[in-house]
Amino acid sequence: MKGVVLAGGIGSRLHPLTKITNKHLLPIYNKPMIFYPIETLVNAGIRDILIVTGGKNSGDFLRLLANGKEFGLKHLDYTYQEGEGGIADALSLAEHFADGGKLCVILGDNIIEGNIRRAGDDFRRQERGAKILLKEVADAGRFGVAEIDGDRIVNIEEKPKHPRSNHAVTGIYFYDATVFEKIKHLKPSGRGELEITDVNNAYIREGGMTYDFLGGWWTDAGTFDSLLRAANLVAENGANRAPEEIAAATRSEGK
Ligand code: G1P
Repeated sequence: MKGVVLAGGIGSRLHPLTKITNKHLLPIYNKPMIFYPIETLVNAGIRDILIVTGGKNSGDFLRLLANGKEFGLKHLDYTYQEGEGGIADALSLAEHFADGGKLCVILGDNIIEGNIRRAGDDFRRQERGAKILLKEVADAGRFGVAEIDGDRIVNIEEKPKHPRSNHAVTGIYFYDATVFEKIKHLKPSGRGELEITDVNNAYIREGGMTYDFLGGWWTDAGTFDSLLRAANLVAENGANRAPEEIAAATRSEGK
């Protein structure tokens, strides 16, 4: 399974911080934001990684990451998103890279405490379809929100005014190669973007969507509040930790 980090966009919610740089290059405590999602993929045993970026500062990703040696990688792939087409539009650029195989896709501003290795291994064994990772949150209306019936997800609503559950859809997605055909049939949403939630609902409709809950903390970092929260969480607990490490820390904290 290959990995894709989506790191485009103009980061308008973080203006003026993003006026002269890409959101994913901003610091989260002691590292640039994009380091964390790359580490998440590498920790799940993924070695072939594509960075999708765009905008005026795209060259800085190459200067920062080069061939990914810092992550133990031999090389990284890069591609450039023209314009502001949304997450699913950015993902459509990975078709050639995917080469008919499965993908783990992570949004460049999603940071996790733990590890997605188990979900990744489960998806490697899943014959077809997609898998998403959910997290219970207090402010579900900021995210895609999953409605669950028994052991199935029946629908996802993007940033609903009245969320039907507190299960946020995190920005970590597993897809088979049919994702590209699904993206080709999407229509832009009200905000003029191809929405990843519409891709996920297409998988739900055809009965191919599975899910798991993400352990440890999870945050995005696309707003001033979540950027600060992400830095504090990383500084206090560290990110991308091994499951044994989290278990040991939890025991020693007496939680
Ligand atoms: C995106 C997705 C949303 C998901 C979130 C996770 O929202 O559209 O479904 O819950 O990422 O970070 P955005 O950050 O683009 O507003």
